[in-house]
Formats: sequence, structure tokens, C-alpha cells
Amino acid sequence: MVPSVLALVLAAGAAASPLARHIDTDADAHPQPYARRAPPRPCTTPLPLTNYGPDLTYAITLSLGTPAQNLTFVVDTGSPDVWVLSSAVAGLSTGPGFDGAASSSFVGSSEEFHNVYGSGEVRGAWASDVVCLGSKCVRQAFGVIDAPGPGVTFEGTPVAGVLGLDWGLPGREQVHAPLWRQLSQAWGDKQFGLRLSRGPTDYFGEPFARAGAVGSSLTLGGLNRAQYAGTLHYIPLAGTTDFWRVALGGVRVAGRPVDTGALFAALDSGSSIISGHPASVAALYAAVPGAWLSPGGRYFVPCDGVAGGSAPRLGVGFVLGGREYALADADAVLGAFGAAAFNGTAPGGTQLWCMGSIQPFYAWPDYLPPAFVLGIPFLKSWYSAYRLAPPAIGLARAV
Ligand SMILES: *[C@@H]1O[C@H](CO)[C@@H](O)[C@H](O)[C@H]1NC(C)=O
Ligand SMILES: *[C@@H]1O[C@H](CO)[C@@H](O)[C@H](O)[C@H]1NC(C)=O
Repeated sequence: MVPSVLALVLAAGAAASPLARHIDTDADAHPQPYARRAPPRPCTTPLPLTNYGPDLTYAITLSLGTPAQNLTFVVDTGSPDVWVLSSAVAGLSTGPGFDGAASSSFVGSSEEFHNVYGSGEVRGAWASDVVCLGSKCVRQAFGVIDAPGPGVTFEGTPVAGVLGLDWGLPGREQVHAPLWRQLSQAWGDKQFGLRLSRGPTDYFGEPFARAGAVGSSLTLGGLNRAQYAGTLHYIPLAGTTDFWRVALGGVRVAGRPVDTGALFAALDSGSSIISGHPASVAALYAAVPGAWLSPGGRYFVPCDGVAGGSAPRLGVGFVLGGREYALADADAVLGAFGAAAFNGTAPGGTQLWCMGSIQPFYAWPDYLPPAFVLGIPFLKSWYSAYRLAPPAIGLARAV
């Protein structure tokens, strides 16, 4: 399935650190007291997200069934479906799964549910029940997973499933409408907004300058204006509306254009990394001095500057809708490894090597053109809006 391929739900690290920060929603939810002549603003309340990893998974609470079972879900703009681990599945998460038998509104089925992710696959059966997100409830079809494949784990977190916020293949909404499509029928403003804020430290343990200023949030039927600077720049979706992808105008490394051959970029909040067609990723790292492809198939760059507690300066930018959107240097690497970790295969003697946050997706399907999937490392710098009509994504600098 095309959309599923783009979702790389990586296992969150064992050292889960819940960093949910509750944000002041008053500014967005209520009209100004004296602005009586102004038209009423839509009552959109940003829903807080919890950052696990840190920065590997951003999760939200959904209430399923009657009485409500409040469970934790990965927020994933790279896949369309909701699925939840059955309470019979043990050991994949620190939290409970969903118990359909305990819900008076649960309707099961024998229709198979099967999703393939970049990092694994899940199997189960379609079901439906009352699902509430924030204060909004609908009857929603979702997958109940009793057979998660290898590679699917939420170890160290209470995550019980995935909240897909993608489109799905054309016609999908007539079969199993994504939750956001159902909820959008009541939205005056046909878009949702996402802010993924950084954990308190980078991968070198150094504090981020503005950590803790605002929390991560999902806003449905509007945007959280407190979390971005200036105005959003909207970019129409490329091709058919199957997933949140736009034409990629180019890739720059240290200010210079690099011909990666990639034709589009997709936004994927369910991916802990930025992934791309192997040839596109290879072209990008060919422009980074000293970059090295390990025998394990991962790109590393020399960690110059790490001794001083900072990430190497890669200066990667993606050109979308005619503007360059930078990947912050601090988000371009995922941590440092000593040369000893590579059993003598690493070049450069005793140098420290930083694993890039941009990595090849080797199972790239033939029917998709080369592209980049911009996951969490990219989205931490940019507030993103996902607009239903006309279909577009919007980006603005996150604050
Ligand atoms: C589940 O969440 C709802 C909505 O936030 C809340 O009213 C309810 O008390 C919660 N139930 C439990 C068992 O935590
Ligand atoms: C290095 O060797 C050890 C022991 O043989 C092995 O477990 C490890 O995976 C190797 N590391 C790499 C990067 O090849």
C-alpha cells in the first residue's frame, strides 16, 4: 500500500521520557473580550502530544468504546488508518491494549486488516466503535491487531496503536474513512495543524536553546497560531491526493544545489527519521565532506564539533513551493559512535561518527518515483498545516 510504505514507525527508545507540556489554549479558544464586532472564531483547542524517545514518537490520547478506554496513539501523517493492539497482545508496550469485549458499542468483523510499514507489519481484523479525539466523537472503523509482525514495538512507551492522519488511496474514504476525514465534516476551517517540539536536550546531551517554550500539539479544524511565526506558506499537493506530498523543487547542501533525482517530498510525523530513495540519499551524502556508508547500510558523517557539544554543520535544505526549508543541523544527526563500534571498517582512525537522520529506504517500491519522506527531524523546525480543500500542506517556522 502506497501510504503505508511511507510510514516508518520506529520503535521508541527504552528510556521513555514523557515530555508532555500543557500549553495555554485560552488564546486560541476564546474570542477577545472587547472584539464584539469581529466574527466568532472557531473553537479549536490544541490537543497536547507527548514526546517519547525523546523526539522518536509523538503520541496522543484517543478514547475508544463504551465505557471509554483511554489509550495512547502515535500521531502519523504518513498512514491513513487507526489501529490498536488488542489487549490480548502483551509485551510490546508498557500500556494496555484495547479490549473490544469490554465495550458495549464494539462491532467486530472478519475482514482482515493488514498494514505494511517501513519497519514492520501488523495484522488483525477491522472493527468499529465510538472513537473520541478531544471532545469530538464518531463511530470509526479501525484495525484491532492480534498479530503484530517483527519490527513493530512500542517498547518503553504506553503506545497502543497508530492514529493515521493521511488520505489513503483514492476512494478509501468510501470504504473505511480516515478518522480525520470524518471529523472534518464539522470543521469550519478545513485543516489541521501540527507542532512537534524538541525534547529538552539534543543527542549530545546539550540543551536546546528554546526547549520547553511551548509543547507539541495537534489542532483539528484550525491551527495553533501561538506556535508559528509569520504566515503559513501553502503548497498544493502533488499528483493525486493519496498522501501528504508536494513537489520537491530541489535539495541543497551547504547552500549548493544537489541533484538527488527526487521528485516529491512527503510529510510524515510517524517517522523518527528522514528517509529517501537510496539513490537520492546517496547523492545527498556525496555532497557532504567525509560522509560514509557503513556495512550496515547507514550513512555516517564525521562528528566535528561534537567535543564542543554541537552537531556537525551539514546545512541541508529542501526546496518546497519555491522556498528552502532547512533541516536544523542539530536534527541532521541522531547521535555519535566511536570508531571502535565499526570493527575497523570505519575510515578515519579514532574519529567519532555521527549517524545521519537522513537514511535510505531500501525497500523503496518501483511504482513510486524517487522522493524524500520528511519525518520528525524536519517537522521539529516547521509548524505544518494539512489542508483538505483545496488540498495543500502549509509550512511556517515553528516557535
Ligand atoms: C478518559 O478520557 C475522558 C476524556 O478526556 C475522561 O472524561 C475520562 O474520565 C477518562 N477515563 C478514564 C478511565 O481515564
Ligand atoms: C562488530 O563485531 C561485533 C562482534 O562480532 C558484532 O556484534 C557487531 O555487530 C559488529 N559491528 C558492526 C558495525 O559490524
